[in-house]
Amino acid sequence: MSDLILLRHRQIPDLNQLDVYRQHGGFEAFQKAVTTMNPYAVTDEVKDSGLRGRGGAGFPTGLKWTFIDTENWPHYVVANADESEPGTFKDREIMEGNPFQFLEGVALAAYAIEAAEAYVYLRGEFWQIADQLDRQISELEAAGLLGDKLFDTDYSLRIYTHLGAGAYICGEETALLESMEGKLGQPRLRPPFPPSYGLYGKPTVVNNVETLTNVPLIITRGADWYNSIGTEKSTGPKIFSLSGRVNKPGNYELPLGTTFRELIFEHGGGIPDGRQVKAIMAAGASSSLIIANDEALDTPMDYESVPNVGAQLGSASIIVIDDSVSIDWVLRKTLHFFSHESCGKCTPCREGTFWMKHIIDRVHQGEAAWSDVELLNEVALQIKGKCLCALGEFAIEAVTSGIQRFEPDFRAKVSESSDEDELLVESEKA
Ligand SMILES: Cc1cc2nc3c(=O)[nH]c(=O)nc-3n(C[C@H](O)[C@H](O)[C@H](O)COP(=O)(O)O)c2cc1C
Ligand code: SF4
Repeated sequence: MSDLILLRHRQIPDLNQLDVYRQHGGFEAFQKAVTTMNPYAVTDEVKDSGLRGRGGAGFPTGLKWTFIDTENWPHYVVANADESEPGTFKDREIMEGNPFQFLEGVALAAYAIEAAEAYVYLRGEFWQIADQLDRQISELEAAGLLGDKLFDTDYSLRIYTHLGAGAYICGEETALLESMEGKLGQPRLRPPFPPSYGLYGKPTVVNNVETLTNVPLIITRGADWYNSIGTEKSTGPKIFSLSGRVNKPGNYELPLGTTFRELIFEHGGGIPDGRQVKAIMAAGASSSLIIANDEALDTPMDYESVPNVGAQLGSASIIVIDDSVSIDWVLRKTLHFFSHESCGKCTPCREGTFWMKHIIDRVHQGEAAWSDVELLNEVALQIKGKCLCALGEFAIEAVTSGIQRFEPDFRAKVSESSDEDELLVESEKA
């Protein structure tokens, strides 16, 4: 097995102990940055590496850091450890197994944007990880790796954890910031974006846990080393969270550009019970349903290629659906989730997710007519492009792609009798 970069704890026992982490070069990147590099040089190295945000959108990380408003102070870094997307469980493994590399990444981001305070925002269910990080942050302070006047320079940094209350929407960066400020976790109207108006109205960089965990090795080994991994535009390693109908679900760290086929069949051990793979969701519940034909299976999992099969890579939470599953069941699962998690701030998402849930329940129970399936699709299309944040868009991905690409599953659910009943009602009205 080649050397892992993010899940190094699988190859180095006890890497979550500070002394072991330091024996393996831990905090050398941070010390090198603070003592020998100016903050812009750190940002430039990350820019040159091609690192793109692993929270879902794939936005270039170094470029985001350059957007920070240098006319307005103080600056903050917030690590997004909300990890609420169904099917995503990579940040948790990083924070439990390789926490110091993550914290060093937070420290490097803070130095790059000249922030003296950084926060880790964790979903409420991660309270044990928050306790563990608090202890590890204290160890770093005791070792002189966090605190005042670091390495005898004028640079000081403190890191704090902050627990949410387990709402999916608080993973959206502006809802997260509202939640940190003690307000209701609902997205802000954007622009302004966090690099100009973030935490407490101050310039803030929000990055995902996995994104930040890449940074220490980019600084020690260099941008050229990093961008030799992956594809030209999607550089570096990625943790693919594999779940659903596979023999060996779990996190797999592989270069961006690895095919779905390699992940599912070589690493994931294929489909149980000799079944066929029918559909793939690449971005957790927020994903379009990809028809799992040869073209899709041979598609590289990177930010440019996945759209060719009608989906997005997102957080790379690969959910495998086999031919024992009817797609209306999948839609029912996703719509119950999104209806529950809609924050209610804007009408198309709040009402739309509620009504889509009710329609899919009827379809799933075999109590719907084909016109109900059409209505479901129509409601989804009415939501499209009309919401304040991306949750509304996420909620319709599986609906529109599922109905369009797996129509026979819905036809099979629609009872002929209900179509006839409906026609009868229409003719009675006439
Ligand atoms: C509804 C919703 C939920 C989100 N949940 C998460 C999350 O749990 N973790 C995360 O890192 N990003 C999440 N994001 C993306 C963040 O808004 C933001 O883009 C990301 O944290 C930026 O980090 P990156 O540039 O390192 O990817 C979510 C976005 C939306 C719209
Ligand atoms: S799209 Fe949904 S989750 Fe986002 S602000 Fe509107 S109601 Fe809230």
